[in-house]
This record gives sequence, C-alpha cells and structure tokens, in this order.
Amino acid sequence: MTILELTLAIIKPHIVKNPVFLDAVRNVILNSDFKIVKSKRKRISLDEATHFYEEHKHKFFYNRLVTFMTSGPSDLYVLAKENAIRDWRSLMGPTKSFKAQYEAPNTLRGRFGLSDTRNATHGSDSPESARREIQIFFPDFNVDEWYRTAEQKFRSNLIIFSKEEFIHKIVDT
Ligand code: CDP
Ligand code: MG
Repeated sequence: MTILELTLAIIKPHIVKNPVFLDAVRNVILNSDFKIVKSKRKRISLDEATHFYEEHKHKFFYNRLVTFMTSGPSDLYVLAKENAIRDWRSLMGPTKSFKAQYEAPNTLRGRFGLSDTRNATHGSDSPESARREIQIFFPDFNVDEWYRTAEQKFRSNLIIFSKEEFIHKIVDT
C-alpha cells in the first residue's frame, strides 16, 4: 500500500445549509474510503476567500465566487487517501454544474450543483495547491509533521471515526 495523499475539500454554503444534501455528500466521502484528518465548519472571511482564489482574480466570475463563498458557513475537510486529489476531483465531477448534470449526473456537482458558481464542492488540483490551501484554512496543521507522526497510523487504519465531529482520530495504544 502506498503513502496517503492529502487534499482540501470544501463543502460550499448551499450544501451546508441543507442537512439532507450535507449528509449525502458526507456519505459519499465515507463510502469512498477517504479518511477525514481535519474537519471544521466556518464562514470563510473575505480575506481568506481573496487569498484562496487569488489565481482567479481577473476572471469574470471572481466577484460572484467570492461573494458566494463568504455568504454562509462552509465545511472544510482535510481528506486522506492514496490518490486523494484525483479521486476527490473525480467524485466532484466537472466544474460547471450544468455540464455535470448532463455529462456526469452521478457526481457531486451533477447531483447537488445549482449553478456554475454554486457547484457544491471544492477540491485541490495538485499536491502544491493542496499544501497551500490546507495552510490557509488550517494554519496550525503541520503537513510534514502529519506525515512523520500520523500518516502510517491512518494508512494502517489505527483510527476511529467520530460521527459528531466528522473526523477520524488515531486510537490510543
Ligand atoms: O473548482 P474547480 O477547480 O473545478 O474550478 P476552477 O476553474 O478552479 O474555478 C473555481 C471556482 O470558480 C469553481 O469551483 C466555481 O465555483 C467558480 N466558477 C464560476 O463561478 N464560474 C465559472 N464559469 C467557472 C468557475
Ligand atoms: Mg480550481
């Protein structure tokens, strides 16, 4: 078994507002064998959204994107799996919800996307982005230290799942 990869997932505000949709998205995560390493709910600040979406600042959709992402609480997860980045993006489906509904109706964006902006979920697109994005929302989480002290335990399933906190924790041995 190879080393686990980390990715940042965001469950966007219109999903967090709807308990049925949120539960469905969470079940997809668990049933696809992701481990939840970090988990929190927060309303993303304007500063965070501006920094996070820096690469899009000149795009026509930037303003509506930042406005939406700061409009209410999101769920922020650090997910671990062998090919976490690729697998999470493939579960999400195409960026544009209407394209997803048509071409990939079983993906998260196909099922729960409401518009090109309100497309249900975010996922990092490369290991470098994952590291950067995790640092923005979990500044106290040290990725290198996690690999040194926790990765093997997660890989060996020496973990328990807390439903209330929606997180996997290392079992005390
Ligand atoms: O999220 P993903 O990496 O698939 O796509 P992106 O090209 O990095 O775009 C970031 C986000 O901008 C998307 O997830 C959408 O929420 C939003 N977007 C939009 O509002 N309108 C578009 N035409 C394209 C993207
Ligand atoms: Mg992107």
